[in-house]
Amino acid sequence: HFAQYQDGVYADATEGRLPSLPYHHEQLRDMAAGRLEPGPFGYVEGSAGRERTADANADAFARYALRPRSLRPGAEHSGDLGVTLFGRRYPSPLLTAPIGVLEQVHEESELAVARGANPVGVPVVLSTASSTPMEEVAEAADEWWYQLYWPSDDELAESFVRRATAAGASAIVVTCDTKRLGWRPRDLSLGHLPFLRSQGTANYFSDPEFRSRLKADPEPGGVFTEAVFHFLGAFASKALSTENIARIRQWTDLPVLVKGVVRGDEAADLVDAGVDGIVVSNHGGRQIDNAVAALDALPEVVDAVGDRATVLFDSGVRSGADVAVAMALGAQAVLLGRPWVYGLAVEGAAGVEHVLRATLAELQITAELMGKDAAELDASDVTRRP
Ligand code: FNR
Repeated sequence: HFAQYQDGVYADATEGRLPSLPYHHEQLRDMAAGRLEPGPFGYVEGSAGRERTADANADAFARYALRPRSLRPGAEHSGDLGVTLFGRRYPSPLLTAPIGVLEQVHEESELAVARGANPVGVPVVLSTASSTPMEEVAEAADEWWYQLYWPSDDELAESFVRRATAAGASAIVVTCDTKRLGWRPRDLSLGHLPFLRSQGTANYFSDPEFRSRLKADPEPGGVFTEAVFHFLGAFASKALSTENIARIRQWTDLPVLVKGVVRGDEAADLVDAGVDGIVVSNHGGRQIDNAVAALDALPEVVDAVGDRATVLFDSGVRSGADVAVAMALGAQAVLLGRPWVYGLAVEGAAGVEHVLRATLAELQITAELMGKDAAELDASDVTRRP
């Protein structure tokens, strides 16, 4: 029933049922800006420094051009958006990127994300800094992966990975680009430091290993300073190394991906160490300003990895056509970030579903017009704009 994402969208438009939310990313972002307080909006929209990396992420897409082949010889193509990742069939190449402390955006936080993603068959990548404990999200989400911010304490890392495995995650994604938070002027100027204020510690408070280290019980619903400092420690794990990441194998049989790689040499080292997948990403430009655009790093990583591991992509994807470009450059699947967060801000689960469905519908139409199934897109389908 996921096969034809565009059908419902076009049928609704034809019959005059107009969507309550816009299809353009910028329009939706402006609606969210009107809905959220300046602090939470700045938290989502903000990036590192002068935000040049974030701008470069989006600009990079404008420098690539798709090369449609309208008259394909042979069989009519199926329009199937499905991809196979780690031996498992997924209805489309789209996942939701891990986004922390979502209660800043909507009171139903990750549960609304799951409810919006389920009807379109999109897996949720759940952040370590989620506002809801992973076991509760596991109940709500049809399919989910777990994103790990490696804590300063390896036993806590092990506990998180074992919990995620037991709760039914399908993969573990270790984010490697966040040893500490980047220089984020919007958060600092507004005095809005979401991690210090929020329940982005839910996975910590619900963790037996973590609780056994607390000197006192946390106040229900409150922010517990000791926990927060442990949590910030999550961004300061000096021990996070290629070898250390490989130790996850002792804790889980799930596929292990590393997110936040923008260099071919680092990707090759990780694959040598045994990781199954790389997520090419610069964290949406939130960590280092003046960094390489994620899309510009994608071909280098794809070359370095070859067919030894699966390459996924995020940072700057704003539409279905953007997904097609990333896939043509070698990504096997794509994580969508800010666009659905704005949908969540404006309309909760329905807003998330709206954004995902629109992205998938556009991808499906684009692939059909390109004369290929999405998974078949390759380097011959894309060129640099002159
Ligand atoms: C993020 N990102 C992120 N990544 C991660 O691994 N764990 C996390 O908790 C978060 N939290 C987070 C919060 C917010 C508000 C944003 C915008 C991003 C990074 C995210 O997974 C992804 O890499 C970026 O969102 C991709 O950039 P775009 O496409 O959203 O600009």
